[in-house]
Amino acid sequence: PPVSSSLQQVYEPPAYSDDEYASLDWDNLEFGLMPTDYMYMMKCSKDENFKQGQLSRFGNIELSPSAGVLNYGQGILEGTKAYRKENGSLLLFRPDQHAIRMKIGAERMCMPSPSIGQFIDAVKQTAFANKRWVPPPGKGSLYMRPLLIGTGPILGLAPATEYTFLVYASPVANYFKGGMAPLNFYIEDEFTRACPGGAGAVKSISNYAPALKALLRAKDRGFSDVLYLDSVNKKFLEEASACNVFILKGNLISTPATNGTILAGITRKSIIDIARDLGYQVKEQAILVDELLDADEVFCTGTAIGVAPVGGVTYQGRRIQFRVDNDSVCQELHTTLVGIQTGLIEDKKGWTVEI
Ligand code: COI
Repeated sequence: PPVSSSLQQVYEPPAYSDDEYASLDWDNLEFGLMPTDYMYMMKCSKDENFKQGQLSRFGNIELSPSAGVLNYGQGILEGTKAYRKENGSLLLFRPDQHAIRMKIGAERMCMPSPSIGQFIDAVKQTAFANKRWVPPPGKGSLYMRPLLIGTGPILGLAPATEYTFLVYASPVANYFKGGMAPLNFYIEDEFTRACPGGAGAVKSISNYAPALKALLRAKDRGFSDVLYLDSVNKKFLEEASACNVFILKGNLISTPATNGTILAGITRKSIIDIARDLGYQVKEQAILVDELLDADEVFCTGTAIGVAPVGGVTYQGRRIQFRVDNDSVCQELHTTLVGIQTGLIEDKKGWTVEI
């Protein structure tokens, strides 16, 4: 069982041999929390920078009931994955981009953030210390969840007095049950996700609980997720609760521009580059819901989700279906991205970090 963590105690992870695996049914992994051995933690006070963090056993953390994160939602999450290569080493995917996104988000949420180097080092240490939990090649990945939270006590509305940066990890496979089976989306025309001037572009923890209501309602009706529309006109496409969205029409791939309400996905950005390299025209622009309904293909992207095909959407009682076969553009983008992430396709862009 996980040992309750004491921050005073430093744990040196044992050096696992490359072929040592945790005893898990690797063929039946899902996207769910599977506690692993170690987590990384680092603290600093309000007016300081983060200095030195350490690994500890994975376990509960102690918080004041008046911690800023509990009372006012001052927190940011990230999600990043490590893959195991055939040669036994681990590959991280663009950890620098996650570090930069956390830094930008921290500024918006009035929090100090780890430096890019500290973030990457923490993710590397967490992946390496939990190596036996990284699935065999082709079976999934180790999902790492960096969190930056206001842990200092506060009563009036103000930034917390102390901050904690931590990284924990869990082996995962596909986010949506059914693997690459086409998703079935509901276009949400009551609730919205973000508004101009808000924090929708930031990976703030406070953006996710408000999305549950529409998500659960859609799931109850048999949908995989909802697609949000813009909060002003309710006619432009935004994103789903947990991923960005793309449409394909002919040779043109479009995705909503990051205008302050769209999460700047690292997978989103990577797919834009990959699609351009493969010869597609890609535009980041406002997309009318009518253009979505007229698309040849629809797909969504995210770290947890990867690149996943949307087989159908339902809008105001009307269901529209899209192409999802094995020769689809979505499938081509998926194969290329996963190939780079897992080391099967040469990484010419310097996106992967081998450890
Ligand atoms: C990710 O894609 O890594 C996310 O953080 C989305 C989350 C809702 C699973």
